[in-house]
Amino acid sequence: MHVRLKTRREIEKLRRANEVVADVLAICEEMARPGVTTWEMERAAREYLDKVGAKSAFLNYQPYPDVSPYPAVLCTSPNDVVVHGIPSEDVVLEEGDILSVDFGAFVDGYCGDAARTFAIGKVSKEAQHLMEVTRNALEAAIAQLKVGGRLSDISHAVQSYVESHGFNVVRDFVGHGIGTAMHEPPQVPNFGPPGRGIRLEPGLVIAIEPMVTVGSWKVEVLDDGWTVVTKDRKLAAHFEDSVALTEEGPLILSRK
Ligand code: MF3
Ligand code: CO
Repeated sequence: MHVRLKTRREIEKLRRANEVVADVLAICEEMARPGVTTWEMERAAREYLDKVGAKSAFLNYQPYPDVSPYPAVLCTSPNDVVVHGIPSEDVVLEEGDILSVDFGAFVDGYCGDAARTFAIGKVSKEAQHLMEVTRNALEAAIAQLKVGGRLSDISHAVQSYVESHGFNVVRDFVGHGIGTAMHEPPQVPNFGPPGRGIRLEPGLVIAIEPMVTVGSWKVEVLDDGWTVVTKDRKLAAHFEDSVALTEEGPLILSRK
């Protein structure tokens, strides 16, 4: 499968979808306090989708026939959950937790996708540091999105930044191209040598999403078929933005 570059018109549509995504993540950030359940966030996200007439990219998503369709519009991933945590009335946020929230939506046939990790009240120095390093790794990656560069320059920027701070990058899940589908070519790993892969050209739109662990990068999937946790049960963080490369440089679609 080849990479399909997007026109300016398409990038404008992707920006509109990502605006909805940014709005929902802002609502979740506001709600990210002790005592709140992740199902309350899910309800708020569904209400917002209804209000603006957008469609969830996650609800009923089924990457392969042998996995159960994803049952929610949000992924809510606390502490040692790396990604794909399922919102639940039984998950009550507590002071000191960190919570990654991932959300995707379609508007007018185009998909937006982004994630943030929030601190619940006051968190440990280690948790704070992990969140900062993950967010900065995403910035370092976006800075590599330059015409004439190569795709793996992005991957290498994430890995080298994260490892220089003593943390590790998850290997089993990757970023991706995005457009009229949530997952399009190319895959965007968060590790690897620079100077490999496709050349970066105007019209490339990708979701860059570092997943970073305090301990080992090894992960496992729980029996629900979705929830991805660190094998050592240490903390993980996840930040994601959908970014377009234009003649003028990178355009971060999922921030307002
Ligand atoms: N935003 C995520 C991704 O980039 C999560 C999608 S998994 C889903 O792949 F099942 F929730 F859709
Ligand atoms: Co994504």
